[in-house]
Amino acid sequence: MKKVRMGFLGIGPRGQGLVECYMNHPQVEFVAFADIAENRAADFAAYYNKKYNANAKAYTSYEAMMKEAKMDAMMIGMDPDKQVDYAVDAMYKGIHVMTEVPCAFTIKQCWDLVNAVKKTGCKYQLGEQTRYWNFIKEWRKMAAAGEFGKIIYAEGEYLHYEKYWDLLRDKKTNYEICPKNLDELNDPNCEKSWRYYTCLYNPILYMPHELSPLLSVTGGRIERVSCFANKPGRYTDTQFEAVPLQTALMYNSNDTIFSLRAGFSVPYGPKLETGAHWYQIKGTKATVETCRSTLDTMKLYHADGEWETKDWGCVDQTEPDEIKNASHGGADFYPIMYFIDAIVNDKTPPMDVYKAVETAAPAILANESSKYGGMMMEVPDFRV
Ligand SMILES: NC(=O)c1ccc[n+]([C@@H]2O[C@H](COP(=O)([O-])OP(=O)(O)OC[C@H]3O[C@@H](n4cnc5c(N)ncnc54)[C@H](O)[C@@H]3O)[C@@H](O)[C@H]2O)c1
Repeated sequence: MKKVRMGFLGIGPRGQGLVECYMNHPQVEFVAFADIAENRAADFAAYYNKKYNANAKAYTSYEAMMKEAKMDAMMIGMDPDKQVDYAVDAMYKGIHVMTEVPCAFTIKQCWDLVNAVKKTGCKYQLGEQTRYWNFIKEWRKMAAAGEFGKIIYAEGEYLHYEKYWDLLRDKKTNYEICPKNLDELNDPNCEKSWRYYTCLYNPILYMPHELSPLLSVTGGRIERVSCFANKPGRYTDTQFEAVPLQTALMYNSNDTIFSLRAGFSVPYGPKLETGAHWYQIKGTKATVETCRSTLDTMKLYHADGEWETKDWGCVDQTEPDEIKNASHGGADFYPIMYFIDAIVNDKTPPMDVYKAVETAAPAILANESSKYGGMMMEVPDFRV
């Protein structure tokens, strides 16, 4: 069975978890890890080589890894706001790329990704995984069978509170740091991390985790967006200034209205099974939604009946163990499964570059809109 030789750029907390998950795939072999944080790639390569009897090499930069390592594909788990340049460069060097969520932080980065895939023919996939949750698969089946009637409305939220986020990076070691108070936040030995900008000021940028699954059910692409934000304030006991909520209204090409919100800085209340995420779809014949709280159930309403409890859940119990046991409620294995399938069998991955930027660009423009009092923004069509 052909193995795909993979490199991993940015082997931080998320990356390390993904490697463990991806090693359950029989065609995955990691040959290189690169990270700018002191000893991080070396420590992880030593751990990986021992555990998997492998011979992966460690590097302290992308450039060093590209110069030496023989790779077919690369996973990027570094800062999402800076990952596109590396993804594009790698594709121009003939390497297939999967990046983490969000795929881009600017519209130019969206175009750069699209153009690189068009020009190189390399496989690109966004590792967005919530679209593979079981209830979303069930909703997609319902949509395909016409059970929603006309879908008129889709709603989602990503409200993820942690008291302390890794808002800083140590300038010397490059390790992430969670400041506990304003003095620590202003430590001159540290620089602000990408999380500082998303968690504290621009949470709507993390909306791809809602747009990806919802658009997979509604179809179409977001054409117009408008967004409002609370003013930044010191609302929680950490005393860090933050925007607690950004809420966007979006209109898509299938005449569906989306209402989406994101926030990271006040306790919003978790949901059963989906944690910080919540989703709803309304059609003329049926409405579905996930649990609004830990006291709630997933449910379905039929126009000719009553609300009923549904046990769709996140994990597809019919799948093999490597999927059922994967992190994020059994969802994290699907992106690697489809990425490897796309490379080995020359297929377009399900979360291809167009679908990826169609989850990022509306969020980027919603963020812009909120800076201009909710001004409506047109989302470019990346497929033309
Ligand atoms: N899909 C999901 O559910 C999910 C969950 C968590 C994180 N993420 C995404 O995964 C990515 C990483 O998240 P994280 O929490 O591990 O972030 P992090 O900032 O803690 O880790 C990023 C790592 O990349 C390294 N890095 C930064 N610049 C680099 C460069 N130029 N070259 C090599 N290495 C570099 C850092 O040193 C660090 O080790 C982000 O894009 C995040 O949005 C996705």
